[in-house]
Amino acid sequence: MTTKARKVDSEISRRKFVTGAIGITSGVAGISLLSLLGGLTAKKFISEQEKMISSGDTLVHADGDNKGQPIDPSSLKDDQYFLAYPADKDGKIRDQGIATKFNAVMVLKYPADKLVEPLKKEATASGIVVLTTVCTHAGCTIGARDKEHNFPCGCHGSKFNGYTGAVVAQPAPLPLPQLPIKIEGNKLVVAGNWLSPVLGAPKTEGATQEVKV
Ligand code: FES
Repeated sequence: MTTKARKVDSEISRRKFVTGAIGITSGVAGISLLSLLGGLTAKKFISEQEKMISSGDTLVHADGDNKGQPIDPSSLKDDQYFLAYPADKDGKIRDQGIATKFNAVMVLKYPADKLVEPLKKEATASGIVVLTTVCTHAGCTIGARDKEHNFPCGCHGSKFNGYTGAVVAQPAPLPLPQLPIKIEGNKLVVAGNWLSPVLGAPKTEGATQEVKV
């Protein structure tokens, strides 16, 4: 049996990483290496893409009293918005390392008349919209709504409409990407990929995390 450990992403370099391989052939009938080494901590390769928000994830509150709790769509009120993170099917929140930035999304509840282009209504659910927090100019994280109800980016002055994500002030070239969602029971669930790319979001390998084998 062979166990491989691979390189760690610089962003999570605080996590120790052991490079090497163990090649052991067990010639003892009925005794597995795993049973001998029960509980051994090894490194399993987790690609950056695997960390990213995925279809089927449940959205959970990123902050506040309900931090980590699934968002109940029926509890949202018009004009409300807040930050959320995705949680995978095992309930593990995807908010570590590089995912801290790229998986942070805005959940917004809109009055019906605000559901206009460039929003795609088919990607909304009961007036709830999910947008990225990553500016389309150079990838900074946008700020909270200002007095004019826009989302400003503090890096170079772009502004996005606080309802639709449309560009109000450049240099941002594109609206904020929208994430398709659906309601399942009393949860808000990711229903597909970003409708347009999130600037800088990783698509390839690069990181590891510890798992039990
Ligand atoms: S990164 Fe947002 S305006 Fe430049």
